[in-house]
Amino acid sequence: MIYLKSKEEIELMRQSGRLVALILSQLNKIITPGVTTLELDQWTEDFIRRHGATPAFKGYRGYPSTICASVNHQVVHTIPSREKLKEGDIISIDVGVKLNGYCGDAAATFPVGIVSSAAIRLMEVTQHCLYKGIEQALAGNRIGDISYAVQAMAEANGFSVVREYTGHGIGRNMHEEPQVPHFGLPHTGPRLREGMVLAIEPMVNSGAYQVEVLSDGWTVITKDRSLSAQFEHTVAITAEGPDILSKL
Ligand code: MF3
Ligand code: CO
Repeated sequence: MIYLKSKEEIELMRQSGRLVALILSQLNKIITPGVTTLELDQWTEDFIRRHGATPAFKGYRGYPSTICASVNHQVVHTIPSREKLKEGDIISIDVGVKLNGYCGDAAATFPVGIVSSAAIRLMEVTQHCLYKGIEQALAGNRIGDISYAVQAMAEANGFSVVREYTGHGIGRNMHEEPQVPHFGLPHTGPRLREGMVLAIEPMVNSGAYQVEVLSDGWTVITKDRSLSAQFEHTVAITAEGPDILSKL
C-alpha cells in the first residue's frame, strides 16, 4: 500500500527533512582526521533530541546507533565505532529522524582531509546519480525511470550501482512502499503520483556492484574492496515537480 501525502503532511515532512539536512551540514564541519564515528554518532543523537525529534534508525530491527557511518569500502549500515577517521578516507553518513510523527532520511559521503582524485570523482558522480534520479521523480513517470537514470549515469562513468539495497517510500514509517531500486528499466514499475514521498539513495561502487555483509550482521562492504559512496534525499512528487525535502 502506497500512502499519498497531503500538502500539510508534506510540510511536516519538510521539517524532518530540514533537520537531517542540517545534521549532515554540521557533520561536514566536524569530520576531520582523528575523530571517531562514535563521536559523530553521539553528537548527532544529542542534536536530534535537542530539536525535539528522535533517531529513526536506533532500535530499527535492532540497529544500535543513530547514524550509519561507512568508511571507504564499507557501503552502508556500518555501526559507529571507536576507530579514528584518517586523512584520505571517505565516509558515508546516513541519518534518519522522526519529528512530529514523520520521518526524514538523508545521506552524503564526505572526504576526510585531502583525498585521492579517484575518491573525489566517485563522490561527485554518485551525487550526480542521485540528482539524475530526482529529475525523474515526476507524476506520470514510473519508478523504473528513476532507477534507470541513476544506473545509466553511474555506468557511463565506469562505476556500478549496488543492487541489494534500494530506496523506499517514506512517511510516518521510515520504510514504506514502493521500493526504489537504483538500477532497472525505464517505463517499468509502479506509477509515480502526486503526494508520493520517496527516499532515493544510490550506493555507487568504483569497482563491481557485488557486496557482502560482515559477521556483525550489519556492515555491508564491496566484495572487491573497492571504494563506495552514497547520497540520499527525501523527495516529494508534486504538481510542480520533484520537491527535495531534505535540504536546508
Ligand atoms: N537509509 C537507510 C535505509 O533506508 C538506513 C537504514 S539504517 C537502519 O535503509 F539501521 F535503520 F536499518
Ligand atoms: Co533510506
